[in-house]
Amino acid sequence: MSVGRSGTCLLLVSVALGLASGVTDQAKFVKEPGQKIVSNADQLVSFSKPAMSNILCAASCRIHSDCSLYHFSPVTNICATFKERSSFDPFTDVVFDKDWTTGYLSNASSVRRGSWVLVFRGQSRIGVPVYDTWVNTSKHDDGPLLGDFPYACLRLTDYKQCNRHFRSHIVDKWVNIQEARFSLVKADTEVAYIVFDATGSDKISWFSQNRILHSTWSPALDTANDLQPVNMKGNCYKNSICRRFQIYQKYKYCKSEAFYTFTVDMAGDSCSESSWVLRDFSTFPVFLYSPGTGRCSIGTDRGSYILGDEADVMSVWVKFV
Ligand SMILES: *[C@@H]1O[C@H](CO)[C@@H](O)[C@H](O)[C@H]1NC(C)=O
Ligand SMILES: *[C@@H]1O[C@H](CO)[C@@H](O)[C@H](O)[C@H]1NC(C)=O
Repeated sequence: MSVGRSGTCLLLVSVALGLASGVTDQAKFVKEPGQKIVSNADQLVSFSKPAMSNILCAASCRIHSDCSLYHFSPVTNICATFKERSSFDPFTDVVFDKDWTTGYLSNASSVRRGSWVLVFRGQSRIGVPVYDTWVNTSKHDDGPLLGDFPYACLRLTDYKQCNRHFRSHIVDKWVNIQEARFSLVKADTEVAYIVFDATGSDKISWFSQNRILHSTWSPALDTANDLQPVNMKGNCYKNSICRRFQIYQKYKYCKSEAFYTFTVDMAGDSCSESSWVLRDFSTFPVFLYSPGTGRCSIGTDRGSYILGDEADVMSVWVKFV
């Protein structure tokens, strides 16, 4: 767990050498503010120092050949370094926490959680359709990251100031992608996700039911045979009503409609005025999801369905072959 005196001494000497010789051509870390490691990683060292910084904590990781990630907090001044276990999953073993920053060993300049790379991040109710942004090949916010891109729009915590969607150039180079993760975040927590097998898919077709590997709603969603076709493009009506990223039961009545998730991507829905509990779609997109393990409804006549909820952020992550 912790190191003895000689380990600490070695650490301080190495930090000093590292700083003196410049650390630029050594192992690189991508730091992700707002993330904290909670499980499935073996702690190598943990220490506390005033004015704890990324440089200091990364340096202590760098000197351990086993170290692949670390986290530190400028609030508690603690740094801890870790070796990942093979079962390490950055979506369950790392949680959002605004006081902590996690560093991952990597030489890529992208937003990551371990081997997952963020390729799209939609912010709710900013008045810009999320599907039109997904297919807009003129919009590349990275490769490299544009200097004026708001940092809040890359975060999965503390993102209240975000006013645009993020779209990576990777969306237009959809190759060697093994898995894609559709992830919904509310109040700094991932509240629902679906992992798709993206092998041989393109940037639109990965979002389909027969590619689902697991999700918050497994196994109900994987085997359901009474859904509208699960797809990203969804349905639009008269250019003023659009449901995207749709996973819902075939239409019956607005009042009792059931779904897993869909995005209201225009300022309104034909069901909202008289038949839904959630009615304000004057701003969009609105990311609706079921907060349970099965379907939900936002209809006024929900029967036994739980009430659906609205997420703050929709994000898509990919894992390469
Ligand atoms: C760094 O990137 C190069 C090219 O993108 C890749 O071939 C190499 O494996 C990467 N190294 C590490 C340690 O990730
Ligand atoms: C596509 O993105 C570009 C660059 O951000 C933007 O100027 C343009 O208006 C977008 N087009 C559409 C149809 O949204």
